[in-house]
Parts: sequence; C-alpha cells; structure tokens
Amino acid sequence: MAAPEFSQEQLDEIYAFAVDLGRKAGQLLLESVEKRLDGGSQTIEEKDSAVDIVTQTDEDVEAFIKSSIHDRYPAHKFLGEESYAKGQSREYLIDEQPTWCIDPLDGTVNFTHIFPMFCVSIGFIVNHRPVIGVIYAPFQDQLFSSCVNRGAWLNEKRRLPLIHKPSIPPMPPTAPGKCILSCEWGKDRRDIPDGNMYRKIESFLNLAAETGSRGGKGGMVHGVRSLGSATLDLAYTAMGSFDIWWEGGCWEWDVAAGIAILLEAGGLVTTANPPEDPETAPIEEYKLGSRLYLGISRPAGPSETETGRQSQERTVREVWKRVRQLDFSRPGA
Ligand code: IPD
Ligand code: CA
Repeated sequence: MAAPEFSQEQLDEIYAFAVDLGRKAGQLLLESVEKRLDGGSQTIEEKDSAVDIVTQTDEDVEAFIKSSIHDRYPAHKFLGEESYAKGQSREYLIDEQPTWCIDPLDGTVNFTHIFPMFCVSIGFIVNHRPVIGVIYAPFQDQLFSSCVNRGAWLNEKRRLPLIHKPSIPPMPPTAPGKCILSCEWGKDRRDIPDGNMYRKIESFLNLAAETGSRGGKGGMVHGVRSLGSATLDLAYTAMGSFDIWWEGGCWEWDVAAGIAILLEAGGLVTTANPPEDPETAPIEEYKLGSRLYLGISRPAGPSETETGRQSQERTVREVWKRVRQLDFSRPGA
C-alpha cells in the first residue's frame, strides 16, 4: 500500500495533538511519582534482564496514549515499547504507513529511583521518517518538540539549538576534544570478553583519554554524560548542551521522537558502527531499526574554513576512528 502524503496543515494539526498528548501523559508520570512520595508503593517487574524493568506506570501511560491516538487517528499504526515487549518477535515492524512510535516512560530506572531524567517520548513516523517528535520530562517541566519545517523547540518558545544568535557555533576544530560526549552503558551487561559492554567501555576510554594517548585514539572530550534516557540524550544534543551522542542497543521508541527533534534542529544522525575506512567512507543516514546511532551534534554553524555540515562530518569521522563496532543485529532491520 502506498504511504499517504500529508500536507503541512495536516502535520501541524497532528503536531498540536501530539504536544497535548505528551503533556497529559507526562502529568500521569508525575502523579505516579507524587503518589510514591505520599507513601504509595511501586511494583517493578523484570523483562529481558534485571536492568530491563517495567512498572505499572509504564503500562498505564502506554494504554492511555494508545487509546488517545486510536480515538483520534484510528487509521494510524501504533508501536509502543510495552505492547511490543509482550510479543515474542524482536523484528523491526515499521513500514511506510503512518506510525506512532512511543515510549510511555523512557528512563524507567531513573523513574524508579526518582532521578529526574525520565520522560514520555512520542514520535510520528511517515515513510520510515520521524516527522514529528514530542518529549516531555515532567519533573523538570521540559517539553521538547518538533514538526518538519517548523523548527525544534523547548517549551514551545525557545528555538533549538539554544545558542543560535548571532549564529550557531561550529564544532570545535579539535573535536572530539572540547565536546561533551553523551553515551549509555545500556542493558546488555553480559560479561563476554570483547562483547558489547567491553567494546563500549573501550570506546568510552578512547574518547575520554588524553590527546595523543592510546595509540593516537585519545580524544580528550570535555566530559562524558549518561542521562539514563536515550530520548533525553537526543533532546540535550538538539539543545546543543551535548555535542556528540554515541549509542548502541536502544530501540526505535527510545529514539524516534529525539531523532525528529535533533534533525529539525539541524543535527546529523548516522550509524554508531565505524566503517572500515572512517576517513573516506560515505556518511550514511541512520536506520531507525538498526539500534546503532551516532547523533552528531548539536547543530553546527560555519567557521572560516568549513560549513557547519563539514564540521559535523569531520566530527563523525573522528568519533568513528576511536570507537569499536557493536553487535545489536535483529530481524527485519
Ligand atoms: C532505556 C534508556 C537507556 C538506554 C536503553 C533504553 P527505558 O529505555 O533509554 O538510556 O540505554 O537502551 O532501553 O527502558 O528506560 O525506556
Ligand atoms: Ca520505556
């Protein structure tokens, strides 16, 4: 079936609905925290491992979002983390059809510890492209949102990236030096020598170590941050607070809204896995089902010697030179 086309007017209307839905769903997350602060209990169930968890709040908020979308747009497809997790298949299911790809609660571990970095994440995808993104972190009252051709916003009034006057700064000439790197330990904690966890740690070490060290791989990044929510990592990259986001292992609902927002803000998203020749290989577009993402920047502006895009691409290549390949393959991606 051919994918329907959407006019800008239709997308604007869907965007307004998504923003309202994000705020309402975020309010439910907050109410659940408040109940706990008033002495209520919390049940936590494990999914694939002890760090892959779900609470009743994840389930309730997903049910609320699913029914709200179904009432308003019955013809649209729906993919939510918790409904997907209940199925046996780990296939990539998104096709050309308009699809809502949502995580009712990204940063569930944070939520259970009342570390404020948790949020609801709502992406609307057409033809495999996230065209609308809404992320609401209710504890901080931060709403990140975007609709194609309409810009990316914080709380609907501050345009992203935050620093864009008089112009958006270019990536540092020393990148990854002077950049803030965002990355996550993730949920694959299998203690396999040279497995994903070891490869991630070696990559973090390379990017963090002093310049010139580790056989030339030392990247001396300004800082390394892990928010514990892939969605918020992307939102902070769109703000320009993070410069580089390198991640493997999360799923489409963790990134759909964040990618929409980062791209609309002017960021670049490609694969986390370095090609054989990082210096010359084409910088291909990310694949939504790949579970491997390198979101470069914070949108970058031009310098005297480079366009913003050139400085982003240079940074991608410098990161690729320092990171290991990860394996998160799955059917259908
Ligand atoms: C997780 C978070 C985490 C990332 C994991 C995700 P959840 O999502 O985004 O930062 O490292 O890969 O699964 O379980 O909190 O919704
Ligand atoms: Ca989740």
